[in-house]
Amino acid sequence: MATQSEKITYSVDEFVFDVKDIIGQQSTGSRALDAIGSNLRRLVMEGGDLTKQGVEAESSVGLPGRWLHRVPGGDFQLSVTYFPPDEPTPVHSHNRWGVECVIDGEERFTVWERIDDQGSVGKAELKVVSDGIMTRGDVRAWYDPPKNVHRQWAQGGKPVCLALLMGGDGSRQHIFDLDKGTYEDAPARPS
Ligand SMILES: [Fe+2]
Repeated sequence: MATQSEKITYSVDEFVFDVKDIIGQQSTGSRALDAIGSNLRRLVMEGGDLTKQGVEAESSVGLPGRWLHRVPGGDFQLSVTYFPPDEPTPVHSHNRWGVECVIDGEERFTVWERIDDQGSVGKAELKVVSDGIMTRGDVRAWYDPPKNVHRQWAQGGKPVCLALLMGGDGSRQHIFDLDKGTYEDAPARPS
């Protein structure tokens, strides 16, 4: 774990308050997610050791995470989530937007947009929106559909640890096969 300041100068509660305020005023377009991302980075830098806060979360990827904010029926949920090295997630979409900030480690994060007319069930055409390596403090978003497709891929032989804010209940929507240009419904699981 990277060196953390012990002193919390921006807490999870303050972050949650600010996210609600931003969504209330600006909804969840790209400008709003930019503003939320700035606050998420501030939380990672000033919120103390987030990996020891909240409650333990069920793991979907073999590494336990933490719930920092999760309210049934809420507009969003905040977690500390780990992805193991050398095991990229499938290319997948969520029903809603998401913003992530790296706490520790290194990740290749790619976002795609669906550019087909979505008229053919099971078929999808994707175009890369953003692709790059993220390290501590870096922030990226995916968006409400159609720019809601992405893949997390830890680099450097060790897990990546993320502060992960997801709209709605964070549920996955589809799993994509880039080579075949197809998709199928995602099994129910987080992240
Ligand atoms: Fe995801």
